Amino acid sequence: METHEISRRFTDHFVHAGHTRVPSASLILDDPTLLFVNAGMVQFKPYFLGDAPPPYPRATSIQKCVRTGDIDEVGKTTRHNTFFQMAGNFSFGDYFKAGAIEHAWNLVTGSQDAGGYGFDPDRIWVTVYETDDEAIRLWQQIAGLPQERIQRRDGKDNYWDMGVPGPGGPCSEIYYDRGPEHGRDGGPVVDEDRYLEIWNLVFMQDIRGPQSPKYGYPPIGELPNKNIDTGMGIERVAYLLQGVANVYETDLVRPVIARAEELSGRRYGADHEDDVRFRVIADHARSGVMIIGDGVTPSNEARGYVLRRLLRRIVRSARLLGVHEPVLGAFAEVVRDEMAPSYPELATGFERISAVMRAEEEAFLQTLTSGSRIFDLAVERTKKAGGTQLPGDQAFALHDTYGFPIDLTLEMAGEAGLSVDGDGFRTLMNEQRNRAKADAAARKVGHTDASVFRAVLDMHGVTDFLGYTTLSAEATVVGLLVDDQSVAAASEGSVVQVVLDRTPFYAEAGGQQADTGVLRGGDFTVRIDDVQSPVAGLRVHRGVVTAGTVTLDASVVAEVDKGRRAAISRAHTATHLVHAGVRNALGTSAAQAGSLNAPGRLRFDFTSPTGAVAPAALSDIEDEVNTVLQENREVEAYETSMDEARKLGAMMLFGEKYGDRVRVVDMGEYSRELCGGTHVARTGELGLVKVLSEASIGSGVRRVDALVGLDAFQYMSKEHLLVSQLADQLKSRPEDLPDRISGLVERLRNAERDLEKHREEAVLASAGALAAGAEDIDGVLLVAAAAPDGVPGNDLRALASDVRGRLGTRPGVVALFSSAGDKLSFVVATTEAARRDGLAAGKLVPSFAAAIGGRGGGKAELAQGGGTNPAGVPQAVTALRAALRDGGAAAGARASG
Ligand code: ALA
Repeated sequence: METHEISRRFTDHFVHAGHTRVPSASLILDDPTLLFVNAGMVQFKPYFLGDAPPPYPRATSIQKCVRTGDIDEVGKTTRHNTFFQMAGNFSFGDYFKAGAIEHAWNLVTGSQDAGGYGFDPDRIWVTVYETDDEAIRLWQQIAGLPQERIQRRDGKDNYWDMGVPGPGGPCSEIYYDRGPEHGRDGGPVVDEDRYLEIWNLVFMQDIRGPQSPKYGYPPIGELPNKNIDTGMGIERVAYLLQGVANVYETDLVRPVIARAEELSGRRYGADHEDDVRFRVIADHARSGVMIIGDGVTPSNEARGYVLRRLLRRIVRSARLLGVHEPVLGAFAEVVRDEMAPSYPELATGFERISAVMRAEEEAFLQTLTSGSRIFDLAVERTKKAGGTQLPGDQAFALHDTYGFPIDLTLEMAGEAGLSVDGDGFRTLMNEQRNRAKADAAARKVGHTDASVFRAVLDMHGVTDFLGYTTLSAEATVVGLLVDDQSVAAASEGSVVQVVLDRTPFYAEAGGQQADTGVLRGGDFTVRIDDVQSPVAGLRVHRGVVTAGTVTLDASVVAEVDKGRRAAISRAHTATHLVHAGVRNALGTSAAQAGSLNAPGRLRFDFTSPTGAVAPAALSDIEDEVNTVLQENREVEAYETSMDEARKLGAMMLFGEKYGDRVRVVDMGEYSRELCGGTHVARTGELGLVKVLSEASIGSGVRRVDALVGLDAFQYMSKEHLLVSQLADQLKSRPEDLPDRISGLVERLRNAERDLEKHREEAVLASAGALAAGAEDIDGVLLVAAAAPDGVPGNDLRALASDVRGRLGTRPGVVALFSSAGDKLSFVVATTEAARRDGLAAGKLVPSFAAAIGGRGGGKAELAQGGGTNPAGVPQAVTALRAALRDGGAAAGARASG
């Protein structure tokens, strides 16, 4: 049975049983506790927690999931996928254990002709939570399962939660026995490879706190209702029903392996290590495409890092299979072809997806190239030192600094006839990992616990937002926090967080900055500096009590800073226009990747299929945007259904969770986007949009910065003034400035070159005179003199060598001093004959250094240094003479002795 068919049957089964079909949420739902959606229930969390009323009592979905915790197991076991599809049915206070068991049993064991999966009921085993006698009884009654195929397990296996505070509950898991040839008898408690888990039924009834009931901590509360959350692994069912050896060989994944076979010329199934590589490629290619499809781009942080790691592991595995050319584009195509029937956005967004992949691959291949050079050096050094093992710190540096994967190092070291100090490498890796863990733990502290806000939400419901139509409103304080703790009152000077029942303040969202303003009460004022929404639906005002005492339940007038809001709204409208302009110029694969709408300025990030945007294209975009301003189009915002918005062709953002009702911001045909932000009424209000720059901010993503309105005008007017001043100064017309300036620069460069030449000549010309003035000190020629002032170190050295050269084969010492202000530099040089006589330049320095307040040193041939007392040069010369007399005497003594 094909994977798409397995999904279809699941949905049909539950829709038929009264469930509402809900599409998969994006992989990057806005949930601060998760990098990626990892279970079907994530998008329903507010309904389980009672934060929002469920729009339906029963739902079913096929959810895209990413779990990378077991990334190192991928390809080695039969069942670990980083991307998989979780089919689930959900009940929000509707049916409970009996219903969940019955639905699952019927689908799993129902005959294939009747729409089921047709698993042999005699090979099904289940596990239940250790004390859940009710579940045992239900499995016996409903499914007729014999006692011995129902096993009890403790919380570690049969309690499910999200790994963070939130909903959870005991669960019951369904397993399929693959047969004795796959492992030991005794059910899932003995062998989870032979008995493969296919479905988890969670009886969702608890709220877990910071410590999970999994590990014996009691739940901290009960959910408002008894609910059902289930998850069936589509890929696992496919692997069983398709009779293949593992999840990588199922119909949607295997074609990537086939492509890798073509590219590498190696065969899957011929060599164990190669097979693991093939499977890693197949698994990761799918995850990579799905993750990019939802709007993530590779980076060094969080999601972007996970993605980067996946993509790089593909490239590396391909390399280990002997493919050195770019491969990601080819694999992405296969994934698209297999997955697009379920996820059409992969086909429509493919240009963007493959652009991101290509950019990352290019960057990584470059890393590999530079890493290879470092690797070669390390090998050379090891071999020169007679070693046979590449040191652990070198392997670690390659990994850590050059992003060079360890298995590649191992492989290449093997080819070079060396082993690698794996223990040393692992020790360093562990140290680094522990540092990272400590960092992460440190960051967690100081993170406001959302439960305080959730309590406010439970009690008072969501904050009504009035800010689309008014900037000042009366409201009541329903939540008040100091230091993240609820308080009844806060006096002057307190830093507070205030929740109101209704507010005109916009909370930072979708790139739009928060409003600022004041809350005025009868006898108090709170200055609001920031507004955030830590739990969906709640708007939390942050600021300082500037007068009086604010209390819970107090009435306030909430007033938004109008000027700032207007400037932010102008920026936000401008962002939509720039977005439309960019897409008109570069094509629809230029998708928004982020934005910032601040007072008077905006930033717009987008994935660019073609790399940098040419200056001419940028200027066209700017022209177009300003033309639309001049047309003074009406900016309309209205609510509609998601379906209708799609039909209207409204642009939507990747990774954004939209409900059934959405808000559309419309500027006629020119721009139409889903958006919750605030905007101006007509485009003419923007006045002017000035694009300042366009640059890369990471693989495949570009950033445009622009100014809006008065800020744009002031910027241009300042530039205008600057140009006028320059034109005045250069006595040129503004349009001739570029030529005039490049002419000037050219002349300046020539003049500098001439000057330099003259100086060198002058310095060298003095060499003859200096050499001629050499004095004989006990048979040693000494030239000790002040060179022209301000001769740079290089020239002074050149001059000293020149003078030394003129002293011929006789013992000679040259010491030149040059001062610049109150600083002094000096060089001492010796002839070969002097050195033979035991005179070393470096050793002579201390003899005169004190006189010039200086220090320095060097070799026998040449020494140099600096000082702080230019006036001491004559004493220094005297001291040097004295030293030579001693040294000369010594040399003489040696010569005669
Ligand atoms: N939420 C449950 C799971 O992920 C069904 O296993």
